[in-house]
Amino acid sequence: MNYNPLRGFKYPTPMEAKIGNFIRNVYYELAQSYNINFLNPPLLAKTKIFQSLGIGSDVVRKELYSFTQKDGEEVCLIPEYTRIFVEQMAHDQTFMGSYGCFGACFRYERPQLGRYRSFTQMSIETIGSSHYMKDIELFCFLRDFFHRISLTNYKIFINSIGTMEDRRIYEGVLENYFQEHLSKMSSNGKAKFERKAFLRMLDSKDPEDLVYILKAPPITQFLCEESQKKYQQIKNTLRSLNIVFEENPLLVRGLDYYNDLVFEYTHEDMGAQSSILGGGRYDGLFKEVTGKSVPAVGFAIGIERVIYLLEKNKTFMAHLNALMKIAIIPVEEGEYLYALEIFQILKTIGTLSILYHKNVSQRLKQCHKESYEYVLMIGETEKNARQVIIKNMFKNQEELVAVEDLALYFLKRKEEKPYTP
Ligand code: HAM
Repeated sequence: MNYNPLRGFKYPTPMEAKIGNFIRNVYYELAQSYNINFLNPPLLAKTKIFQSLGIGSDVVRKELYSFTQKDGEEVCLIPEYTRIFVEQMAHDQTFMGSYGCFGACFRYERPQLGRYRSFTQMSIETIGSSHYMKDIELFCFLRDFFHRISLTNYKIFINSIGTMEDRRIYEGVLENYFQEHLSKMSSNGKAKFERKAFLRMLDSKDPEDLVYILKAPPITQFLCEESQKKYQQIKNTLRSLNIVFEENPLLVRGLDYYNDLVFEYTHEDMGAQSSILGGGRYDGLFKEVTGKSVPAVGFAIGIERVIYLLEKNKTFMAHLNALMKIAIIPVEEGEYLYALEIFQILKTIGTLSILYHKNVSQRLKQCHKESYEYVLMIGETEKNARQVIIKNMFKNQEELVAVEDLALYFLKRKEEKPYTP
């Protein structure tokens, strides 16, 4: 049968799934320390919820997985969590606190490395405060998070796009500026101009557009005093915290709801054009949805991109594999209960499987294939003597150990490992 998955839908390998679970566990654990609550919103929503996000965004214009459901309602698979989060908060009448989501999103994009039509986002949204310290908290969370999963060498880019009013003024400036050069710009750039997505024109990677983009007046010249002050406070605090960042005045983000701080993290192994996360302030979105003014700031990480980076990282993989993989092989059914007893003794020490199928040599072949580090062989003789044959598959060595010494034996082996999970 042909293996023929939907384009842009990827079946994660067992290793990718394992790394994904590790990331999720770290996230849940760390989120506890930061007093973050979790949400599990539905993955299907009314299309109009997302359409209201604006003309500028490709996510909304071209990439929505929308369809008409049986009752005639236009619905879509969610392309991100921020808008649906606002919906849920409005529904629950909750306007304060930090909330996290970890789950699937869908965008009808052109698939490429790290870009899928079904992918996973891990997000944090903080609502109820416009204080810049809330922005800073997110950077602190991210620093701790990346440290715990051993992801290094990422780059942080930040920008301020000012208040909605600043943006409106700036868009007028950009309209005049690009109008002058439009005839020499790419068809993509022209189309954005037609749609009045002037800010998004700065996003173009087209070489034809780049010359003009680089000479465009930067948004930072048009920030009101309040926005300038906030941006400066954020930069100063990040410096005091030794969080290294670069300013990128062309950073405008792919969604329209942002104001003031916007940021993205990239990693050179992923290619500069693919961010591993993006976020910023969206103080106006609640007002638009609920009529109530509720400031908010947040980010979302693309989990498949982080998995890709971690799988290439030898330090991380050593860390992940530090949990010893042990197979217990009862030679005959008569040794099965004894195998279960050994399983109980070792269950906090490693990842265990009892293999009882086919013949012993096939089971050993499987252990090689699946990279078991240790195989514990128990036949009738070992059972009667309350002993175990321990085969170290990596070193090709064998030892006979009494069952009461087993735990200590493996604890010592564990101490010899370079990383302890
Ligand atoms: P976004 O930049 O559209 O922002 O997406 C955030 C992250 O999701 C990206 O940096 C990327 O890692 C990942 N991502 C996006 N599209 C794909 C794809 N097709 N395949 C794989 N990964 C992808 C948002 O979604 C905002 N809601 C973030 C936010 C939260 N802003 C404030 N709060």
